[in-house]
Amino acid sequence: MAHLAFLIALAVPSLCSFIPRQASTITVDLSKTYQTMDGFGTSETFQRANQIHALSPELQRYALDLLFNQTSGAGLSILRNGIGSSPDSSSDHMVSIQPKSPGGPSATPKYVWDGNDNSQVWVSTEAAKTYGVTTFYADAWSAPGYMKTNNNDANGGSLCGVSGATCASGDWRQAYADYLVQYMSYYKSVGVDITHVGFLNEPDLTTSYASMRSSGQQAADFIKVLRPTLDRANMTGVKIACCDAEGWSSQGSMLGAMGSVEGMLGVVTAHSYTSQPTTPLSTKSRVWQTEAADLQGAWTTSWYTNSGAGEGLLWAQKISDAVVHANCSAYLYWIGVQSGATNSKLVRISDDKKSLISSKRLWAMANWSRGVRPGDVRVGTSGGPQGGRVSAFWRKEGGRRGLRITSMMLRMWM
Ligand SMILES: *[C@@H]1O[C@H](CO)[C@@H](O)[C@H](O)[C@H]1NC(C)=O
Ligand SMILES: *[C@@H]1O[C@H](CO)[C@@H](O)[C@H](O)[C@H]1NC(C)=O
Ligand SMILES: *[C@@H]1O[C@H](CO)[C@@H](O)[C@H](O)[C@H]1NC(C)=O
Ligand SMILES: *[C@@H]1O[C@H](CO)[C@@H](O)[C@H](O)[C@H]1NC(C)=O
Repeated sequence: MAHLAFLIALAVPSLCSFIPRQASTITVDLSKTYQTMDGFGTSETFQRANQIHALSPELQRYALDLLFNQTSGAGLSILRNGIGSSPDSSSDHMVSIQPKSPGGPSATPKYVWDGNDNSQVWVSTEAAKTYGVTTFYADAWSAPGYMKTNNNDANGGSLCGVSGATCASGDWRQAYADYLVQYMSYYKSVGVDITHVGFLNEPDLTTSYASMRSSGQQAADFIKVLRPTLDRANMTGVKIACCDAEGWSSQGSMLGAMGSVEGMLGVVTAHSYTSQPTTPLSTKSRVWQTEAADLQGAWTTSWYTNSGAGEGLLWAQKISDAVVHANCSAYLYWIGVQSGATNSKLVRISDDKKSLISSKRLWAMANWSRGVRPGDVRVGTSGGPQGGRVSAFWRKEGGRRGLRITSMMLRMWM
């Protein structure tokens, strides 16, 4: 298929002072196609959306533009929301839609909906209606405490009813599946279609905030209940996302016991904290990197200074590696807009709450998200300058072919 390959000679501008200007040839081979992209995104969960909502109307608009506007902001196309499991809204808790046990797994549910969901309804509605975002990933960090072996939505514990998790109160798998469906129904009623649902977050970590343990086998036990529950609720198009493990290799290990639900899995999701996405996971499903951040580093707005963990160029490269080497169809940074002095977010709310400060991590996301849109297909490349990370994407829509070369921050549309 040689006629599908074409050559582009580029004068590649230097990004870092130690890379000299050079001419280089990159070959794009449209006969080699890889994954289809779903997009780039972030989250405003754990009451971060409340922080944006508390700003002046002008700053609210600016914050939303920075995240979702394809002209003046990052043009993010995926929003990851947290499905609450906590009994209250104290601290940064995500409150549950059923804070108290209805009495048992087969009792009539007692859902409560405040229509606000820690301002996540507002951010989601804006993203959908103002900016045209169509991919919403709703993810539960845990089931409510009364559905778990430790009777607490925090500090680990497992869902009652999955293998090895028996509880005096009974098997809560169906009740938890119904609960997730109910949460999505509330969003549907305000005009936001949740497209992906997750029931775990870092199931390999026990921590003092909402957390629920799960092995791959236990996740499969629940997926066998969740999939038919979604289908019965006419949510046949909603994809199950699993399992948001803390790192790439721990997600890989979980998949070993999930072969029986491969056909029910929509997307395999994993984070980048304990190991980075550098190799494909063993699955036929699409793969998303759903949480990464420099959690501790002191706030920086630098593009490149000394390869610090929060610098923009590093994040542009990390995304490239996840897409090219780990077959990722989506890449999500942890938090979009938030106050505070660490790099856990892309945009910082100033301490006096009167301005927003964008990091170059935001513009690294922008370089990807504005150029590589949902539905684009990655195609083969070879060549390019030494040390450069090159990738190219084919946009099928309208017969246009989008070509994007990442770490050089060079984009060509043909
Ligand atoms: C996005 O930003 C551009 C440029 O500032 C502005 O004209 C446009 O109205 C914004 N789009 C939306 C949907 O707000
Ligand atoms: C699902 O859709 C069918 C056909 O439109 C309808 O009859 C049924 O009531 C719906 N079920 C639910 C749970 O919404
Ligand atoms: C990459 O992901 C796609 C699904 O998006 C899958 O079909 C393909 O087999 C994966 N490739 C590798 C090398 O894992
Ligand atoms: C890409 O990143 C560079 C470096 O920060 C920035 O100047 C440029 O505006 C970004 N482009 C887009 C489309 O975000």
